[in-house]
Amino acid sequence: MHILLMGPPGAGKGTQAANLVKEFGIPHISTGDMFRAAVKEGTELGLQAKACMDAGKLVPDEVTIGIVKERLAKPDCKKGFILDGFPRTAEQADALTGILKELGLSLTAALNITVPAADLIERAVGRRICKSCGATYHVKFNPSKKAGVCDTCAGDLYQRADDSEETMKNRLSVYEAQTKPLIAYYEKAGVYKEIDGRQPIDDVKAAMIAALKG
Ligand code: AP5
Ligand code: ZN
Repeated sequence: MHILLMGPPGAGKGTQAANLVKEFGIPHISTGDMFRAAVKEGTELGLQAKACMDAGKLVPDEVTIGIVKERLAKPDCKKGFILDGFPRTAEQADALTGILKELGLSLTAALNITVPAADLIERAVGRRICKSCGATYHVKFNPSKKAGVCDTCAGDLYQRADDSEETMKNRLSVYEAQTKPLIAYYEKAGVYKEIDGRQPIDDVKAAMIAALKG
């Protein structure tokens, strides 16, 4: 199953990708996670990505396309993948079409999680992430049992640097201008499916699985 997870920042792509990994046993490829790992390692890519991410802007296409191309060529992607946060521009979408063609793969579905903008800011600002295992929580919608501590591994929870209200507004306007138009691209390709992301997390999960199996 080769799945694209689309949707605005904070819509629940990372949360649902974790659910789909459990359901289908295929790798989760998130360009945001790849950039955050590079920032942590202090590589040149990390330095370049950090400046863009902190400002709520996109990392340049040629850099992003390069890392995705390398990752998709790995053997574990043959049986499937969940691509989260890529493509985000028309150039990235064209590049992905070319990469998949070269690899002899085709998309099963492009699932777009839709959530109104006002809810997205609340979701991002309240998001907390485990430093050790990467599990995602929300102070109101999906709280950990003990504040600031991960339920699964007891690691400390932190807030992403780009999850401030101000940066989130930039991320949302970049989404509207550059990424939202890709809906038409995948509608045309015949793989587009919309998922109502305003429902509770488990209901969104059920809707996604139904859309993929149906
Ligand atoms: P990235 O990491 O991809 O961030 P994003 O797209 O902005 O998405 P988020 O991770 O913020 O949200 P999400 O949809 O995964 O939501 P989540 O499940 O965590 O990108 C970060 C940056 O990297 C970009 O700004 C850019 O600079 C760069 N970048 C990445 N990809 C790039 C690309 N292709 N090209 C160029 N640059 C790129 O959920 C959010 C919160 O809501 C959580 O707290 C969660 O618990 C809660 N929640 C989830 N579902 C629900 C629900 N149903 N109800 C209530 N709360 C919910
Ligand atoms: Zn943890």
